[in-house]
Amino acid sequence: MRHLLTLCDLTPPEIETVFAVTKDLKTKYQQGVREPLLPGRVMALLFEKQSLRTRVSFETAMVNLGGGSLFLGRDVGWGERESMADFGQVISQYCDVVVCRTNSHAKIEQLAEHCTCSVINGLTDLAHPCQALADLFTMSEIHGDLRGLKLAFVGDANNVARSLALACGKLGLKFSLASPPGYRFDESFLKLLAQECPDATIEQTGDAAVAVDGAAAVYTDVWTSMGQEQERADREKAFRNFRVDAKLMSGARADACFLHCLPARRGEEVDADVIDGPCSAVIQQAGNRLHLQKGLLAWLLTTKP
Ligand code: CP
Ligand code: NVA
Repeated sequence: MRHLLTLCDLTPPEIETVFAVTKDLKTKYQQGVREPLLPGRVMALLFEKQSLRTRVSFETAMVNLGGGSLFLGRDVGWGERESMADFGQVISQYCDVVVCRTNSHAKIEQLAEHCTCSVINGLTDLAHPCQALADLFTMSEIHGDLRGLKLAFVGDANNVARSLALACGKLGLKFSLASPPGYRFDESFLKLLAQECPDATIEQTGDAAVAVDGAAAVYTDVWTSMGQEQERADREKAFRNFRVDAKLMSGARADACFLHCLPARRGEEVDADVIDGPCSAVIQQAGNRLHLQKGLLAWLLTTKP
């Protein structure tokens, strides 16, 4: 039994294996084949925040694989109605895997501590590992071999950026973050990244043009993540020079793609002519959440601990 709370839980060869299973299942899906690799398996979803992509792609993935899915939201009262220890031990007797979206990363860690079934992070304030896996899988579809490519992230050093930096470090891509002071990776994350990926090439800059120079993918996310709404005005001010527009994209490689985890705010972190333009891969990227989730579930639930 394995958990996926952050990308520290997967080795580079394991990520490659998940990508290979994902590719195989996506090809079969496009041919009309939905291989029932997980008959009778049950996944529960515990979500404290809104979701379209993560919730629906996980539920659909499990149904496509021949298993079942239970969306529990908050109304099962986890960590409130009863202790996390009781909750985790009981739900593990009913379900094979729990996908969890929490306000605080500490809460998913507590749950995982008490679960004897797999726990997958469907987004916390700290990390969004399934998103980053689908994103690098998408880059591999567009550019082929990932090793040596540069991914530029223009925006907040948030959950998505942290998971992308780890994914890039593990798979041999360069990662460049462009953000204003105060919104960059902190020392503890940089230390973790250096421990996990000693060969990682990571850059942090206040100049978005420097970050995108030579990039194969330019990525951004909202300036204000879920749970930070009270900081919106300050963030809009701090990030106003970090919008991805056509001029910024022209500094990337000629074949660079634009990526965004969605949901997006057009006119804030990205101009509409970029996200809705020819270099944008955001719809393919969102579609790949389904295929990656399927590859991940198939691998995780059939791998011996
Ligand atoms: N990108 C992503 O995780 O989207 P949702 O918040 O809709 O799940
Ligand atoms: N950083 C965003 C990602 C949403 C998918 C958030 O946490 O709200």
